[in-house]
Amino acid sequence: MNLIKVKDYNEASKVAFDIMLPHLKANQVLGLATGSTPLGLYQLMVEDFKENNRDYSEIISFNLDEYVGLDPKHRESYYSFMNRNLFQYVNFKESHLPSGIGDLDNNCLEYEKLLNQHTIDIQILGIGSDGHIGFNEPGTSFDSLTHVIELTQQTRGDNSRFFKDLNEEVPTHAITMGIASIMKAKEILLIATGENKAEALKMMIEGEINEACPASILQKHDNVTIVYDEKAGKLLGGNMKEVNTNEFLEETKEGLCLVDFSATWCGPCKMMAPILEELSNEISDVKFLKVDVDENNELAAKYGVMSIPCVYLLKDGEVKGSFVGLQPKETVKNFIESHR
Ligand code: PGA
Repeated sequence: MNLIKVKDYNEASKVAFDIMLPHLKANQVLGLATGSTPLGLYQLMVEDFKENNRDYSEIISFNLDEYVGLDPKHRESYYSFMNRNLFQYVNFKESHLPSGIGDLDNNCLEYEKLLNQHTIDIQILGIGSDGHIGFNEPGTSFDSLTHVIELTQQTRGDNSRFFKDLNEEVPTHAITMGIASIMKAKEILLIATGENKAEALKMMIEGEINEACPASILQKHDNVTIVYDEKAGKLLGGNMKEVNTNEFLEETKEGLCLVDFSATWCGPCKMMAPILEELSNEISDVKFLKVDVDENNELAAKYGVMSIPCVYLLKDGEVKGSFVGLQPKETVKNFIESHR
């Protein structure tokens, strides 16, 4: 999983738009989502369409889901949502949503059949506070195709904000692309912002792959990017790994490694630790290692840790650079980039 941590919703939308951009061209098939999460991204797509005259006329889109029983004209149908926020502005060649009215079994079969005639190049996803993707609620089979699902109380509670002023109940069921249908996409971009997504995000990224958290299946997809903001990421641990001398030698043999030789008695080292933890969450192609050193440690002697400096960057086992003391996060980021 490629993890990108950003400050807030606006930054998440901008980063998501940059990831979408290479796909906004002829012959691409986009998998789209509804809800509050992708709204900022859609606004940026609309602005880009207007300002840059981007042509969507050879782009096809598929949406993940639709409420059961809502007429497409209903204000809160996902059909209306997509028209209101995207389709009325840009000229997609074709836009497909599953239909939540009429013969539902047949709608599921037809939608899956249509999906099978295409390959989604990039699938946008939000995540439910209960870990759902699309409307695949906890317990949904990882093998599921487009199907009808009963919404959990948690999801209905989360979505009640859209129905309140209509004085209506959230529908009890939805039709949704299945988990297997979603996993067929070549690339997946999941956006998660806000505190109420923190638990789901942690389960998805750090939990076991388990149908109790439908989104955890994304750990198995080979091209998935998760863009999340500080609030959604607040429960994530860092990717820093504590290693002993032997593990250090093994881990640093290949690739880029940032090694923290912090001594526990050193004040600036202690303050550097949370910054490195945070960075380890943001930079996925660098191994972040921590070696707990004492005076007798041979690595401490080799790297001069008992004097200074304390943080080393190694590439394929060779030292590329080092720094000492408390450094701002951006400085460390630039340090890594300049030694790639
Ligand atoms: P939200 O919903 O974007 O409205 O938070 C996300 C989801 O349920 O997938």
